[in-house]
Amino acid sequence: MKPLNEYKKIVILTGAGISAESGISTFRDSQGLWEQHKIEDVATPEAFEKDPLLVWKFYSMRRLQAAKAKPNLAHLALIQFAKAHPDVHLITQNVDALHLRADTTHSLPPICMHGSLHESSCSNCGIVYLDDYAYFNELGDYAPQETELCDSTQRSHQHYLHHYNLEYRNFIPLSPCCKVMIRPHIVWFGEMPQHMEKIYHQISHCDLFVSIGTSGVVYPAASFLAGAKAAGAHTVCLNKEPIPQAAFIDEFIEGSATDIVPRFFRI
Ligand code: APR
Repeated sequence: MKPLNEYKKIVILTGAGISAESGISTFRDSQGLWEQHKIEDVATPEAFEKDPLLVWKFYSMRRLQAAKAKPNLAHLALIQFAKAHPDVHLITQNVDALHLRADTTHSLPPICMHGSLHESSCSNCGIVYLDDYAYFNELGDYAPQETELCDSTQRSHQHYLHHYNLEYRNFIPLSPCCKVMIRPHIVWFGEMPQHMEKIYHQISHCDLFVSIGTSGVVYPAASFLAGAKAAGAHTVCLNKEPIPQAAFIDEFIEGSATDIVPRFFRI
């Protein structure tokens, strides 16, 4: 592999594994989120239709967990690298906002293809609001509280949900715009991920593609390594264990993200 500064356009894809050492549950490791909750009960449009209270309890718990977490050495290493390289793009499947919170200098704005825990949207018109409220505590009791997922500058944002202004119906917050249920701004199973055109453009024009901390089992993200390889990029996978896309990986580096990511991106 060439020295990193000899690559013109670098695209990085991250998954839950980059946040694991910050204390954020992954999905498919043992004790992962999908061992504790059925996807169909908390992460589909049908689940929200059927039991919005359960869905909001699940996402309130994840908001509280994300707010307590801090960006780790792997998140910070990507920001440091982006400051020293002119053309780096970050695509993340994660919704925990840790890449955003690591990036105090706005050097590597993430493309959040699965949405974000610190946003909610109107289930009628789709307007996206900054929203750092957990509507339920970790025991599932109704206890709206700020989670600090948004900093003060964001709270002055035009579309920030000021909790004290909200109306509720059966404990579910209603959108100021349409007075219908607000939903977590998360891409659920069966929904199209966001920013796909931009993502495919970046992947088809990169000469280095690095996959970090993803199991490579959820599409379309699971197809990105093959796409980058087909575009002629050198492909690298940094992960705690091998993933199914071995045929499209030029280099596999096994280990924990806070160890292997800073080493790989050392400038
Ligand atoms: N360092 C490096 N890799 C790690 C670490 C760590 N500390 N901890 C876990 N991993 C690896 C695991 O081995 C696994 O391969 O990270 C990967 C996490 O895989 P998943 O839990 O499946 O998470 P992810 O790939 O991000 O899931 C993709 O699935 O459920 C949906 O929308 C959800 O965005 C998510 C998507």
